Amino acid sequence: MSIAPVPKMEARGLRIGFYNERIKRQLNVLDGIDLSVAEGELVCIVGPSGCGKSTFLGAIDGLTRINGGQVLIDGKVVTKPGPDRAMVFQHDSLFPWRTVLQNVVYGIELQGRVGKAEMRERGMDLIDLVGLKGFEDHFPHELSGGMRQRVNIARALAPDPELLLLDEPFAALDAQTREFMQVELLKILSRAKKTALFITHQIDEAIFLSNRVAVFSARPARVKEIVAIDLPKERTLALKHQQNFRDLQEHIWRLIEEESARTGLVTAG
Ligand SMILES: Nc1ncnc2c1ncn2[C@@H]1O[C@H](COP(=O)(O)OP(=O)(O)O)[C@@H](O)[C@H]1O
Ligand SMILES: [Mg+2]
Repeated sequence: MSIAPVPKMEARGLRIGFYNERIKRQLNVLDGIDLSVAEGELVCIVGPSGCGKSTFLGAIDGLTRINGGQVLIDGKVVTKPGPDRAMVFQHDSLFPWRTVLQNVVYGIELQGRVGKAEMRERGMDLIDLVGLKGFEDHFPHELSGGMRQRVNIARALAPDPELLLLDEPFAALDAQTREFMQVELLKILSRAKKTALFITHQIDEAIFLSNRVAVFSARPARVKEIVAIDLPKERTLALKHQQNFRDLQEHIWRLIEEESARTGLVTAG
């Protein structure tokens, strides 16, 4: 008899609401989210705008107070942020006065556990990993949006987290850079052997990147459906033109539209 491995991340019946003191009203945002992510998996989350996707990532990160249920990492209940998790947001939060290398090693520097030489070596390895070799002494304003997001990802990877939480990281990039970054992210994650949860409002991005796509319902969110993405492990942009890719797109689009219609929202986001 084989024993199922413990998921890297598991949310069990997660409930979150925000109480507004001023209007004395509770806003229920997550209404019992069940989702597990296996080690090495990339799961995308899509759902109507404002349904609670970012709130969900915040809870996994350990920053957002939970009203019910649990988040477990490697089977252990999360109570606060930790170095095993790292967040990447839409807008890079790089320090403009620090070089690429100084930005990348920031998290390691804060931990204060490694010496200067080792820190530099790890920083340079990460810069190489995200394809920015030669740019280590540049400042953020000397880089393109795509390059800045690579620095942002390298910085998140620096303390060697096991779970990357990405909240619409490519939303501010132009369409071409975005597709390029999707391919690059898959390379980076497979080289770095990381598990990831990725929020996006672009359905094609979700399908292209994922092993599975979790579709959230309108707020208060539940997992409406988990769509298995049965595409070759080796992802190339040409897949986006195949019929099975389009069928998945159509299926997920319908699920989100159903939810958006329930709340009177017209567009998925
Ligand atoms: N800290 C907070 N305090 C009060 N309300 C919040 C807070 N964070 C999020 N919300 C509310 O929770 C809902 C879901 O927000 P969010 O998780 O950002 O949605 P999504 O990322 O799916 O667009 C929104 O109605 C938002 O206004
Ligand atoms: Mg959000």
